[in-house]
Amino acid sequence: MTESLMETKPVKDLLMKVSALGADGGDVRLKRIVHRVVSDLFRTIEEFDVQPDEFWSAMAYLTRVGQANEIGLLVPGLGLETFLDMRLDQAEQQAGLEGGTPRTIEGPLWLEGAPLSVGEARLDDGSEQGEVLFMQGQVRDLNGKPVAGAVVDVWHANTKGGYSGFDPSQPKYNLRRRIQTDAEGRYVFRSILPSGYACPPDGPTQQLLDVLGRHGHRPAHIHFFVVAPGYRKLTTQINIDGDEYLHDDFAFATRDGLIPSVKRVSDAASIHEKGLNAPYAEIDFDFVLHAETAAAPKTVVERAHAPA
Ligand SMILES: [Fe+2]
Repeated sequence: MTESLMETKPVKDLLMKVSALGADGGDVRLKRIVHRVVSDLFRTIEEFDVQPDEFWSAMAYLTRVGQANEIGLLVPGLGLETFLDMRLDQAEQQAGLEGGTPRTIEGPLWLEGAPLSVGEARLDDGSEQGEVLFMQGQVRDLNGKPVAGAVVDVWHANTKGGYSGFDPSQPKYNLRRRIQTDAEGRYVFRSILPSGYACPPDGPTQQLLDVLGRHGHRPAHIHFFVVAPGYRKLTTQINIDGDEYLHDDFAFATRDGLIPSVKRVSDAASIHEKGLNAPYAEIDFDFVLHAETAAAPKTVVERAHAPA
């Protein structure tokens, strides 16, 4: 049987030099991480007998992911963003934090600086095709106390699955708003029901999913950040019930507690009261926040975003 190269002194020495572990200077934690990651890659190459042409094909793939600006798609597609959430959930559980609205992944399409209003907002400008949606609820703490002045930052796709700021056909900040809760902690917005969407069919993320035999669809959803002074930032989404990919999200973001029912309102009086001429959808959803604590890692995540 061939000896494992990984166990030989030359390879062990090489990994120590690559990571500069044992040498002075540098960031010790980062050195240990580099040592681990490169060791795991070496081990994978050896275990699967990866050939040089396969290796270079993988390097070319990573280059294309960067060039296509699809890191933010590949990461949730590989479950990494969900794993980071699972780690935060675990840390909170260990710190004794229970209950509250579940978190789920942010995804790559938030933009800073959406228009801010108090109490209510309309997210579309009337040009979007789609079923009118009214969504409303309250932001509360774990004791049921309303959180006045919380900011509900909401963003979602249109019925073609596109997001303003990324889809050039949409006006700036279309389907994006920040709503400050009123004295009772309430928010309400009017928008349209979004559709699900999929990875770009010719992009590198879908290319990998194809090889894995996976699809790249996300069920229809609406993203939220909910922030308030003294509370832990909540990053979450709600799913639109009934979507065929509801429990088969390529980005692994669907969670129990984040699938509110969608009420169809079709009586003439309600339609008239809303100033509409067709049935509409209604979703009630309350956000429950944890008080900030030093006992669990922070939930404000620093990451690069596309310029608004
Ligand atoms: Fe999304």
